Amino acid sequence: MSQSPRILVFAGSARETSFNKRLAKLMASRIDALGGQATFIDLRDYPMPLYDGDLEDGEGLPENARRLKQLFIEHQGLAIASPEYNGFITPLLKNTIDWVSRPDGDIGGLVPYENKIAAISGASPGGLGGLRALPLVRQLLSNVGVTVLPNQLAIGGASKAFDDQGQLADEGQAKTLDAICQRLIDTLARQQG
Ligand SMILES: Cc1cc2nc3c(=O)[nH]c(=O)nc-3n(C[C@H](O)[C@H](O)[C@H](O)COP(=O)(O)O)c2cc1C
Repeated sequence: MSQSPRILVFAGSARETSFNKRLAKLMASRIDALGGQATFIDLRDYPMPLYDGDLEDGEGLPENARRLKQLFIEHQGLAIASPEYNGFITPLLKNTIDWVSRPDGDIGGLVPYENKIAAISGASPGGLGGLRALPLVRQLLSNVGVTVLPNQLAIGGASKAFDDQGQLADEGQAKTLDAICQRLIDTLARQQG
């Protein structure tokens, strides 16, 4: 039997009390519970300068971009919780995807994204849950070669959405999140054969 799929999980926010980190952590724990192998990472632990071609030409990739590239390569799937800034994705998420897409020696730019399948979600204190950013996350990931699952979850009113244990208070949202995580695991397992 093939190994359970490895899924890299992170949020597009570095904020200490980020709702999207909470959501990403929850996705990681549900993925583990449903038969996948999740690795949660906090992008705060991988600080990188804003992408700058001159910096890349002069110094190559920042060490954290290298570490992230390697992590992406070691996982078959991605699960991302994205905040919405002015109807868009965050600079942190874009900068991360951009640095990871740069070649590093023998490792081609888009290698970390090859054959990857992703599940996306978002949380916002606002009513729409960051829904406007999700098509842009989808587009960005597609542009680098990632297949993004059609189902997604946007959690509005995020300040009241999680209970003290970090679970979703709303049963319907919890079921939807599980369905997304399960679909990601099943799709990856089928891909692995
Ligand atoms: C520059 C900026 C723009 C924002 N624009 C939106 C927005 O368009 N829609 C929205 O729902 N929330 C918006 N917010 C509020 C964020 O959803 C909120 O700060 C949220 O907590 C960020 O995600 P995090 O908790 O994971 O850090 C914005 C926040 C910032 C800082």
